[in-house]
Amino acid sequence: MIMGFGSVLKNGFTRRRFMKGALLGAGAVATGSAWEIAQAMATGKKAGDVRGYGVEPGRVNIGSNENPLGASPRAVAAIAENLHKINRYDFGVDLPVRLNKQHNVPGVEGFELSFEDMRSFMRFRELNRVMVTPGSGPILQALAVIAAGNGGECIEAVPGYGSVARGFQSFQMMGKDVSVVRVPTTGDFVHDLGAMKAAITPTTSLIVVTNPNNPTGTIVPYDELVSLVDAAPEQAIVLIDEAYIHFVRDPNYQDAVKLALERDNVVVARTFSKIYGLAGMRIGYAVGGQRMMNMLMAHMGFFGGGLSTLGMHAALAALDDDEFVDRTLTVVNDGKEYLSAEFDRLGLAYTPSHGNYMIVDVGRDSRRMSGALFRRGVMVRSGSGYRTREVDLLGNHLRVTIGKPDELEVFVNELENILGGSSQG
Ligand SMILES: Cc1ncc(COP(=O)(O)O)c(C=O)c1O
Repeated sequence: MIMGFGSVLKNGFTRRRFMKGALLGAGAVATGSAWEIAQAMATGKKAGDVRGYGVEPGRVNIGSNENPLGASPRAVAAIAENLHKINRYDFGVDLPVRLNKQHNVPGVEGFELSFEDMRSFMRFRELNRVMVTPGSGPILQALAVIAAGNGGECIEAVPGYGSVARGFQSFQMMGKDVSVVRVPTTGDFVHDLGAMKAAITPTTSLIVVTNPNNPTGTIVPYDELVSLVDAAPEQAIVLIDEAYIHFVRDPNYQDAVKLALERDNVVVARTFSKIYGLAGMRIGYAVGGQRMMNMLMAHMGFFGGGLSTLGMHAALAALDDDEFVDRTLTVVNDGKEYLSAEFDRLGLAYTPSHGNYMIVDVGRDSRRMSGALFRRGVMVRSGSGYRTREVDLLGNHLRVTIGKPDELEVFVNELENILGGSSQG
């Protein structure tokens, strides 16, 4: 049963095909012989039967939208190769130069830094439209602080990631004259850009669009984003958070980097935490015009709060790891099809997602359900965490990160057990 918009996933993606894909797939995801897997399917896997990367044995961690395949192997090799350098500060700008080139920032094409020519560094400072930071979270926080300093309102969707709204709200608690407007998504859990536009006032200081949205996995079209930016007053910053952009499957989707480079009040945030599997390394970046760069620099310093030496090397290597990106996308896309088919089988409504996660309506209190799953070793996110005092659209939903095939099997198995009323629910 599918709720939501756009391309509908086709049922018929069976358990068997999913597991066969896992066995034939990139070796790293196969955990045993076909016979063992067939046996486990018959008996129903438990959390203790699988071993996730970077998680203690006996736990299935599909709660934080991390990469279930571990980290980019190229990044891991780069970390190992550069371990002996951690006594040094890394003042290098190789990563920002690389990202400027990747995003076709005007003037950087063909640009080379030269240690012999210090002027090349000055030139880069002028051209640079990228600020690298320890994860993208600090960018979100910095923008909340910058905007709250101007007073006015912050507009963000609900359900949405909400970290900027919470950052803004803390200024309210400190007695500052600011307010947060959380705009409910449409019934399909898509940003209601019309309603967000209608919420804009002359004193709006920050507008947030998470695209794809977390937790709902929905996307908004580029031209609608442009029209939202057009409606924003001059002083309002528009943050477009593209943490999950690599997972988008709509061929017509357009990212907002061009918009951020063209306008002087738009910032795009990106992260290495998801597609490259580097959440624990803390690497993110912002793209924006000169005004936004200056604003972020004034707040976070030229080096954006300082990425570690190892983080720099890991990020540069990850950007070249196409094989890992492809492997991740295969597991995520197959996992979404598998879950969709299983949710259909269980008669549960879900929303097609452009992220590495899905929301599903389990028809009962999501906190109790996530608690019951947790007691069975499965960590998912309760939808009730995405409510405000006024709006609670996901009170019966779970947000499930796409894990390895065996991890998803455990989740489905335990969900089914709980829904079927088996013991320890
Ligand atoms: C929408 C969104 N933005 C930003 C972040 C922060 O990511 P990080 O600080 O790891 O780059 C997350 C993390 O889950 C997220 O879901």
